Amino acid sequence: MQAITIPQYGGPEALVRAEVPDPIPGHGEVLIDVAAAGLNRADVAQRQGKYPPPPGASLYPGLEISGRVSALGPGVAGWSVGDEVCALVTGGGYAEKIAVPAGQLLPVPQGISLTEAAALPEATCTVWSNVAQVAHFQAGETLLVHGGSSGIGTMAIQLGKAMGARVAVTAGSARKLQACRELGADLAINYREQDFVQELKPQGADVILDVIGAQYLARNVDALAVNGRLVIIGLQSGGQAELNLGKLLVKRATVVGTTLRARPLAEREAVVAAVREHVWPLLENNRVRPVVDRVFPLKDAAEAHRLMESSEHIGKILLQA
Ligand SMILES: NC(=O)c1ccc[n+]([C@@H]2O[C@H](COP(=O)([O-])OP(=O)(O)OC[C@H]3O[C@@H](n4cnc5c(N)ncnc54)[C@H](OP(=O)(O)O)[C@@H]3O)[C@@H](O)[C@H]2O)c1
Repeated sequence: MQAITIPQYGGPEALVRAEVPDPIPGHGEVLIDVAAAGLNRADVAQRQGKYPPPPGASLYPGLEISGRVSALGPGVAGWSVGDEVCALVTGGGYAEKIAVPAGQLLPVPQGISLTEAAALPEATCTVWSNVAQVAHFQAGETLLVHGGSSGIGTMAIQLGKAMGARVAVTAGSARKLQACRELGADLAINYREQDFVQELKPQGADVILDVIGAQYLARNVDALAVNGRLVIIGLQSGGQAELNLGKLLVKRATVVGTTLRARPLAEREAVVAAVREHVWPLLENNRVRPVVDRVFPLKDAAEAHRLMESSEHIGKILLQA
């Protein structure tokens, strides 16, 4: 099969299409003919050599796919050859075929195309696991989403609204802020011109989904409400910062960091099952939609990475196999 490989770390040109051996589904795994793969910021970091795949994961990039089941490994129940699915994967999505543990598969929701479905697994699983499960979000609370127009952010706005949140977002341009408002954001803050701590006063944010890291840590703590929860899922500005513990004590605040990819299989499968139970009905009722900026052919993966690094996109970028 053809796959996008990374023979040497570097810029977008480091992504090289190559003929590689077909994957063979192991026990409990399903073989999928990939229709499309979603891009994630983590793929850029992996290509640059800053985010190595966890032990046992494919060395090729790609953390989510959609496609058709073409074979079942031993011990798989509940899926059949020909099923249209999407899946969370720990790597290897930029390829024509992939073997995936059956517990990481989701059916393509009714009303969503097979290609679009590739935009769903990483964003839905990341947002649900962090906002609902880690932060224990409650209806009526304020959710602040940094990077509201990102692949993750566009899903977080919609899921936040569906969960009964007052949603605030940050983004870096008027065009992006408008897109966030159209998705349901109640408060859209241009982080280049406004201070989100001021904009969230007086009550602050009950939950903050942060993708910036070090540069925002102090201001995120300042922006938290009493009993607030700051969930850090991205470190776009770095991972070393000073934390004023006194402010945490006074606010009875929680600061937590998580990553989906490095979780053990059983935990990833539990997240996927929860997403199927709680998020899939919202997709099938049209209350939540995947936001797709552009679809590139798999061979143009480098071009797709250039778009992601330009940050011109709104929502997800996909590769069609
Ligand atoms: N921990 C996990 O399990 C997990 C899983 C998935 C994703 N993530 C993380 O989630 C983040 C988003 O991923 P993605 O794939 O959705 O990437 P993406 O679409 O490329 O989004 C990155 C976003 O960051 C925004 N941004 C950059 N600097 C900012 C700042 N100072 N303040 C506010 N926003 C800023 C950009 O918006 P502007 O152009 O407006 O600046 C852009 O929308 C990444 O950091 C990724 O690593 C974590």
